[in-house]
Order: sequence, then structure tokens, then C-alpha cells
Amino acid sequence: MEAIITKNLTKRFKDLVAVDNVCLGVGEGKIFGLLGPNGAGKTTLISMLSTLLKPTSGDGWVWGQNIRKDQDRVRRAIGIVFQDPSLDDELTTYENLEFHGRLYGVAREVRRKRIKDLLTLMELADRERAMVKTFSGGMKRRLEIARGLLHYPKVLFLDEPTLGLDPQTRRRIWEYIRNLNEVEKVTIVLTTHYMEEADYLCGRIAIIDHGRIIALDLSQNLKNIVGGDVISLLVLHPQEVAKLLSPFPWIKQVKIHDGVLDLSVEKGEEKIPKIMKIIGGNGLEVRSISLHKPTLEDVFLHFTGKTIREEEGSFTETMRMRMRAWRKR
Ligand SMILES: Nc1ncnc2c1ncn2[C@@H]1O[C@H](COP(=O)(O)OP(=O)(O)OP(=O)(O)O)[C@@H](O)[C@H]1O
Ligand SMILES: [Mg+2]
Repeated sequence: MEAIITKNLTKRFKDLVAVDNVCLGVGEGKIFGLLGPNGAGKTTLISMLSTLLKPTSGDGWVWGQNIRKDQDRVRRAIGIVFQDPSLDDELTTYENLEFHGRLYGVAREVRRKRIKDLLTLMELADRERAMVKTFSGGMKRRLEIARGLLHYPKVLFLDEPTLGLDPQTRRRIWEYIRNLNEVEKVTIVLTTHYMEEADYLCGRIAIIDHGRIIALDLSQNLKNIVGGDVISLLVLHPQEVAKLLSPFPWIKQVKIHDGVLDLSVEKGEEKIPKIMKIIGGNGLEVRSISLHKPTLEDVFLHFTGKTIREEEGSFTETMRMRMRAWRKR
């Protein structure tokens, strides 16, 4: 069964199309990833799926329930961990969970046992009576995930589950997410702008940019689209070198971003000497050269002509300009 289906799901905020005709399906029991830069529309998309935002057009179903007509049933079927912290710092671990359990009408006897089991699953059992304000960022995140699972949801939305955590803590959260997907058999939709996170955790991944899904497949299939290996060249005159290399048929794609030249080739290690010879033979200089297997960043670059980081840079810059203009008014 498909746990989630959307058909041309769209959300507009005045002139801005935050989510643009999104069509996707998420299989039961899977971990599905929404990967995209800041402002891509990830949170807006899951806000519609969790009935917190009304779609402008299009439609969606979560666990067989319609997000427009069966909002209560959708809400009962889902758990959410929001991007922004949402625990009550002045309460204990137990109180936070107890409150949520009551809100969702989980019976008292069930609640006790469920809280205990989830705290064990997230390795927080010894913190049951501790105040949340004494917690580290990683512990808070784990508690939020436990809370999202308390009422036995079929689908769990995790919006940027490791944002702002250090790499080590992030890895641990990944293990918890994998584990609970297995133990709880819960379908998970997670948003992230960390490629490694999507790569490590997710089966199918939708790459989203400016509200649109630009690619959707298993990570490996997405990487196969880029094809072969990626050779990155740091050169003094990237435009000139690009022009020089483009005609060679064994170079499948040439892209310049951030002053770096990326070439897609088969058997990269054999092509490096050839490339060096061509560039050197034309009196141009190579500062550095590296070879890697395609990553999801290369996939993003392939479809958008930019890296996720560059896209976020331009987004931040746009926001800054908007803020400046707004202040001047
Ligand atoms: N309530 C709102 N009113 C107006 N514009 C909004 C609103 N919510 C989101 N947007 C805009 O919609 C776009 C998508 O925002 P959204 O929060 O869904 O992105 P995101 O992919 O979750 O980004 P991030 O990675 O930063 O969390 C952005 O341009 C944002 O400014
Ligand atoms: Mg977001």
C-alpha cells in the first residue's frame, strides 16, 4: 500500500509558489526523503500533508485518508517532529510525553507502558524525571521523536531531524531513526538539506527545488543519472577550459559552479592524464584535480546547474536584499 499519495499538490503564498504541482507516492514502511535547499518548500509540503496548511490546489492522501476532507483521521494517523523546537522546557521528560498522550487520547494504562518503551528505544529511560531544560540538543531531538511516536502513528514526519546538531550527534540520531523504522514499522518522511543524511537513511528521495520535484528515485538511480565519475578541476580560466573540453565525446557533461569545473566521465582515473595533456597542450594551467563517484550534490547540480550550498547562498542573499528593501520602506 502507498502510505502517502499526492496529486499536483500546490501551495501559493500570494505570488510565490512554495509547492508546485507535486506528485509523489510513499510506500508503506519506507523511509522517504525530501532533499532540498532552504526555501525549497519542504516544510510547506509536509505542513499540507499533516493538515496544518490548506493546499491551494491539487490533493493528497495519507494512510488512505484525504488531507482536505478527512483531517481528523489524517491527524490520528500521523506523528510530527517539527523543524523548530517544540518541547516544554519547564516540564520533565515524562510530563512532556504524558501531556501529549492525553491530548491524543491514549488510555492511561497504555500510556505508561508506551512512554517507558519509547524512552528505552530512544535511550532516555534514565532521564524520565529530568527537566527538559537541562537537555542537550540531541537529547531534545530524541525526546521529540519519542513524543511523535507516542500515539502509535502509521506515518511519522521528521522535519530536518538533525538540523543544528554536531556531526557525531547527527549520526546517532540516524541510528535511532533507522531503528525505530524497523522496530515500530512506521513509515517515515523526512526533510533535509544534508545530502549524506538523505543518502544514508532514505530509500527513495525526492529532490525539491523552488517548490518543484526535480528528480525522484532511489539514491543509486539518481546518481546513475549523472553517470560514471565526476572529475573536478580547479583552473585559472574555467570558461576557456570548458570550451576546450566540451567537444570531446567521452566527456558527457561539463559544468562550472563556484569557479570549479565538473566533468562527467566513465573510468575517471584513465581520463585524468588525457585531460591534463589537453589543458597543458593549450598553455593553460590546472591548480588541482580530484576524482569522485557522483553524490546527491552532483545530482542536484546536474538538474539545477547549482550546488545546494550555492542555492542556499543565493536564497540567503535574496532574503537579505528583501529585508534591506523592507527596512527602507
Ligand atoms: N506562511 C508563509 N507565508 C509566506 N511565505 C511563506 C510562508 N511559509 C513559507 N513561505 C515561503 O515558501 C517558501 C518555502 O518555504 P519552506 O519553509 O517550505 O521551505 P523549506 O524547504 O522548508 O526551507 P528550510 O530548509 O529553510 O526549512 C519560502 O520561500 C518561504 O519564504
Ligand atoms: Mg523547512
